[in-house]
Amino acid sequence: MSEVVLHEIHDKVGLIRINRPEAMNALNEAVVRGIAAAVDRFEADENIACIVLTGNDKAFAAGADIGAMKDFDYMDAYLGDFITRYWERIRTARKPVIAAVAGYALGGGCEFAMMCDMIFAADNARFGQPEVKIGTLPGAGGTQRLPRAIGKAKAMDMCLTGRLMDAAEAERAGLVARVFPADQLLAETLKVAGTIAAHSLPVLMMIKESVNRAFESSLAEGLLFERRAFHASFGLADQREGMQAFLEKRKPDFTNR
Ligand code: CAA
Repeated sequence: MSEVVLHEIHDKVGLIRINRPEAMNALNEAVVRGIAAAVDRFEADENIACIVLTGNDKAFAAGADIGAMKDFDYMDAYLGDFITRYWERIRTARKPVIAAVAGYALGGGCEFAMMCDMIFAADNARFGQPEVKIGTLPGAGGTQRLPRAIGKAKAMDMCLTGRLMDAAEAERAGLVARVFPADQLLAETLKVAGTIAAHSLPVLMMIKESVNRAFESSLAEGLLFERRAFHASFGLADQREGMQAFLEKRKPDFTNR
C-alpha cells in the first residue's frame, strides 16, 4: 500500500503531500495522522522555517472520508472527538504553513486549507463546503473561518447552497492569497516559501502569532500584543544583524537567535 502522506525537504522548506488520489485525497484517519506526524517532524527540525501542504493536480482534498464516517452515531463522534485529534495539529503549528491548492478543496479539505496561514491556488482550484448536500454541516471550522476570510454573505452562500467557488472568485473574496497557473503552482509556492524561510525563524513566528491575535482579541489588545512582540524582537541577535546588514548594504546572515 502506498503512503497516504508524503513529505520532502526542499532546503529550508518542509513539503507535505496528501497522496490518496484514488479517493480524491479524502481525509481519513491515516491521512490526518500522517499530516500531523509530518508537521511534528518539520516543527522539530530547526533547519525548516516554512511548511507547505499540498495535494495533487485534481484534489487538494475532497473532504472528510464519507465512507469512513457514514455509520457513525453521536457517541462515536462525541466520545471519539471526531475532527479534532490530528486534525487540529496544523492549526497549532508555530512555523508558517502555506496550503498549495490545485483542484478540489471541499468540506474538510477547504477547512484544512483555511487552517493554514495562507492559501495559494492553482487556476483550476475549486473551494466549497458541500456538507449540506450530504445531510451535515462543516465540522472542521468552515462556519467560523470562512466568514472571517470572505465575510458573512459569501460564507452563508457557500455553506447553505454547497456551491463551489473557483480560484478567481476565491482570490477576489480574500480566501486565497495568490493564484498561479496549475502547472506552476508547486514551484511558485516553494519559491515563496523559500523567500519566507530565508528570514529569521523567531521573527516569522512572532509575526504569525501577532497576525493570529487579530482574530482572537479586541483591536487594543491585539495592538498591545503586537507592540510587546515588536519590543521582544530587540532581544534577538537577528534584529541587530538585520538592521546592521541594511546599513552596510549587504544581505543579512540570520542565525535564528
Ligand atoms: N470521501 C470519500 N471518498 C471520496 C470523497 C470523500 N469526501 N470524495 C471523493 N471520493 C471518492 C469517490 O467516492 C470516488 O471513489 P470510487 O472511484 O471508489 O467511486 C473517487 O473519490 C473519485 O470521486 P468521483 O468519482 O466522485 O469524482 P468526480 O470527478 O466525479 O467528482 C468531487 C469529484 C466533486 C470531488 C466528488 O467526488 C465529491 O463531491 N466528493 C465529495 C465532496 C464532499 O461532500 N465533501 C465533504 C465531506 S464531509 C466533510 O468534509 C465534513 C467536515 O467538515 C470535516
